[in-house]
Amino acid sequence: MCGIVGYTGPQSAITPLIEGLRRLEYRGYDSAGIALGTANRLFIEKRAGKLLNLESALTATPPVANSGIGHTRWATHGGPTDRNAHPHVDNEGKLAVIHNGIIENYTQLRADLEARGHVFTSETDTESVAHLLSDLRKSHNGDLSAAMREAVKSLRGSFTLLAIHADQPEVIVGVRRNSPLVVGLGNKENFLASDVAAFIDYTKRAVELGQDEVVTITPVGIEITDLEGNKLVPKEYEITWDSSAAQKGGFTHFMLKEIFEQPKAVADTLLGRINADDHIVLDELHLTNDEIKSLKKIVVLACGTAFHAGMIAKYAIEKWAQITVEVELASEFRYRDPLVDSQTLVIAISQSGETMDTLMALRHAKSLGARILAVCNTNSSTIPRESDAVLYTHAGPEIAVASTKAFLTQVIAVYLIGLHLAQTRGVMTGHQVREIFEEMSELPAKIEQILETVEPLRELTRGFKDSNSVLFLGRHVGFPVALEGALKLKELAYMHAEGFAGGELKHGPIALIEEGTPVIAILPFGHEHGLDEKMLSNVQEVKARGARVIVIAREGAEVTGAEHIIRIPSASSLLQPILATVPLQVFAYEMAVVRGNDVDQPRNLAKSVTVE
Ligand code: F6R
Repeated sequence: MCGIVGYTGPQSAITPLIEGLRRLEYRGYDSAGIALGTANRLFIEKRAGKLLNLESALTATPPVANSGIGHTRWATHGGPTDRNAHPHVDNEGKLAVIHNGIIENYTQLRADLEARGHVFTSETDTESVAHLLSDLRKSHNGDLSAAMREAVKSLRGSFTLLAIHADQPEVIVGVRRNSPLVVGLGNKENFLASDVAAFIDYTKRAVELGQDEVVTITPVGIEITDLEGNKLVPKEYEITWDSSAAQKGGFTHFMLKEIFEQPKAVADTLLGRINADDHIVLDELHLTNDEIKSLKKIVVLACGTAFHAGMIAKYAIEKWAQITVEVELASEFRYRDPLVDSQTLVIAISQSGETMDTLMALRHAKSLGARILAVCNTNSSTIPRESDAVLYTHAGPEIAVASTKAFLTQVIAVYLIGLHLAQTRGVMTGHQVREIFEEMSELPAKIEQILETVEPLRELTRGFKDSNSVLFLGRHVGFPVALEGALKLKELAYMHAEGFAGGELKHGPIALIEEGTPVIAILPFGHEHGLDEKMLSNVQEVKARGARVIVIAREGAEVTGAEHIIRIPSASSLLQPILATVPLQVFAYEMAVVRGNDVDQPRNLAKSVTVE
């Protein structure tokens, strides 16, 4: 978490830094700060709270400088106060550091530095790096890059660090370990940032940094080295999306914009995925047909919303490809002794590609011999880079902290994988695959249809704004949809919400129902396995105990016992989650708005969870 940006060039640094931080605020918004390199001294300003507080403080004393670093924080060590906000400086106030991640051995470092006379002013792990770098810079004759290389050798944990020194303010030095950092190459100006969104308005040329690589930028060039100081050749790439993709485009919130982008996101993720011979095209899979045939099982690893996409994948892949699929929270998998080997395909799902829990689980699986396929929305991020293969979802940048379009495209991506495996393993014919693919191709228009008719749902949502708790019920693929609906409501509306498998209701959760409790039941299956009927019995059971029931049902489905029915277009049962999730996203969005919450930046959260 935390967003990091650095600039050096001819213009006043404050503009690219503040604009960059605004684009990175999704990564954390507990405090924000900047250090500007003015002649022989640093100008530092930092404020607890959102970026706006920093901006107000800066208007009073607008500084002039051509280089600087900026930080937006999601607090780990030390509360979200002005004092703990980054940048952190050395005792001379000449060297400033910003940091994303955790320095695990900071207690020892701090004790050693204090014993050498350094005085600390914050409770953060980061401040120890500022003091350490200050000492090392002196012992390396003022060479900040050499000091950084040396410092990193004694740091444990995950980090992106940027440092600037007042004696050479045009030089900014950065390093990354298990945490993102990209370089932006401009015209006589250069940038460093956690995410290309920070500098997309200035340049589309970016450079990837590998693990433990140190980068030094000046207005006229960049230099990348390993920790021994060996020079490395920069790996340049072109950013393919436009800066308008990172703006609200007339919507009141990024989340609403992203909900409305879902038809396009799904269509883009499906684009070019079937060939004239009815074969699913996954160029990125890098598994031979023999390897696919010899797979014994699939393990899906993910967190949060991406985990729900994984749960849905299990229903589809097991049915289509006839192979066992286990789905596990990445944070739990990592600390087990899972039965995984070279005949296991691990699918790691992550929008950001930076989620530390997923990354660590992936490494664990890799060390046991598993093949790793990443499903990811962020080009060149760490998870795809460390995987054997990657299938990119084409959702475009997702800025709102709550995931919407990424979720739908993750489900599409895992379905494509399922169809590919089914075909390669000889379980499905090309004709069967084509049929399902064509039905998937109808989904964008069906999502569009849902979005055109959400107004009554928004109004209905407002009527439930004072409820204490909302329960979601689903069965089969409707169960993960129920979990996703509840997660969205918790994170956005700050309401108690739980998702249950309908069959589990009588095993405990039904005790939660009291007069007026809103229950949202997802009824997406037709009469397959008699599940519609079973869900309608659940509806009657909760209604009999005073619940106010909203049912999400496909067009034409018979519904009894509901106070409100939200109709969604018909689709075969496995494809229904793509449609049934959309009204639940709108419900959570509207609830957050009516309760006066910050929709795009819900409290205590950050978009990219780069700490375990
Ligand atoms: C919820 C949400 C989170 C993420 C989770 C994984 O709306 O966005 O639950 O899904 O933190 O993030 P990624 O997909 O980036 O690994």
